[in-house]
Amino acid sequence: MRALKDRRILLGISGGIAAYKVGFVARGLRKAGADVRVVMTQAATKFVGPLTFEALTENPVGTDADFFHTGGGVSHVEMARACDLIVIAPCTATTLARLAGGFADNLLSAVVLASRAPVLLVPSMHTAMWQSHAVQQNLARLDPSRFRVMPPEAGDLASGDVGPGRFPEPQDILEQAAATLGPRDLAGRTIVVTAGPTREPMDPVRLITNPSTGRMGIEIARAAQVRGARVRLVLGPTEVPPPRAFDDASISVVRVMTTQQMLEATQAALQGADALVMAAAPADQRPAAPRPGKGRKKDLPATLDLVTTPDILLTLRPALAGRIVLGFAAETDDVEASGRRKLDEKGLDLLFANPVGDGVGFGARPNEGFLVSRDRDTETVASRTKADLADFLLDRLAERLPTSGGTTH
Ligand SMILES: Cc1cc2nc3c(=O)[nH]c(=O)nc-3n(C[C@H](O)[C@H](O)[C@H](O)COP(=O)(O)O)c2cc1C
Repeated sequence: MRALKDRRILLGISGGIAAYKVGFVARGLRKAGADVRVVMTQAATKFVGPLTFEALTENPVGTDADFFHTGGGVSHVEMARACDLIVIAPCTATTLARLAGGFADNLLSAVVLASRAPVLLVPSMHTAMWQSHAVQQNLARLDPSRFRVMPPEAGDLASGDVGPGRFPEPQDILEQAAATLGPRDLAGRTIVVTAGPTREPMDPVRLITNPSTGRMGIEIARAAQVRGARVRLVLGPTEVPPPRAFDDASISVVRVMTTQQMLEATQAALQGADALVMAAAPADQRPAAPRPGKGRKKDLPATLDLVTTPDILLTLRPALAGRIVLGFAAETDDVEASGRRKLDEKGLDLLFANPVGDGVGFGARPNEGFLVSRDRDTETVASRTKADLADFLLDRLAERLPTSGGTTH
């Protein structure tokens, strides 16, 4: 979400029932470091008060009372000039019609018309309204070089009906906003990301696994999509959901359970890929002979025979030639040296070695450690959120991708 930092974002709110959810968007934009100015339509102010957004953004909120008032204040032309991106959420059928028709009869539509900034629209309305000829015609009339439209999600609607029209999750809107502002330095690249733990069954209800949440790999997949990559995410069993794909091609997710399944899915995903980010924590051992039934506690064996699971990076090493590979090492001792050993052993380009235990590493949100690489000195990486770490690691990976773009694998 680094693309939002220090950017000036005009958040337009029109009069849909989802207006009550936009506080989370305003807050998320602020947290990402953006300067947020809110403009509300008259109808929007009937759903939620401007005071909420003044408090959340620490800026005055523009309303139609300001538009039709000549005594000082900031004009629509000044507002139009002073923004890098306009986000309209929710965008009603009426506001969409105004934008498609080039109207300037309220503050929000006048700002959009007077500005050259890109516009991200988040339409939200009843399914029948969304699918109506008029709304679809209006969408088709927008200039695609300036307007980006997030199609509404399908699901439960305020009316009690079910269908497309739902307001998306605030996090998804923030990602689209970040993608609109760039950089798109991974456009045209295909990146395979593995994330999460694997599970090795002892029987249908007992298993060997580890505390990986998948958050690190999921943040890398999210950031790579925002930067324009096509992402293939091979995901173990995680509670944290994968990022929502911007479109059919931007993220594909393959869910796996065991280390063997992760190996096979990663191998398949590497076809035509430029890079592999191995952020998963596959289980290193599995029960030698999983039992077919649950079995009662008193009948369980006191010891368990284990066998080693395949090493994904070593097994795939021949297929990784010519691709940039970033690995991770969670270490309890001698973190940097252990990381460098793993980098050499597995023939990686880059490896992020981080300490685990005592509340850091697995599951914990901030992360810190050392970036060791084949071609440069070790970089010490101070504690930062996994989202920020994802962008940092992708910077280092992007620097090493061949400039021609795409591979011929
Ligand atoms: C309770 C209620 C909920 C509404 N929800 C929506 C909505 O979700 N989407 C929409 O396009 N219009 C919705 N409308 C209709 C808009 O409020 C109406 O078209 C209004 O004129 C929009 O004006 P604006 O685009 O200037 O904000 C709703 C109206 C009411 C009374």
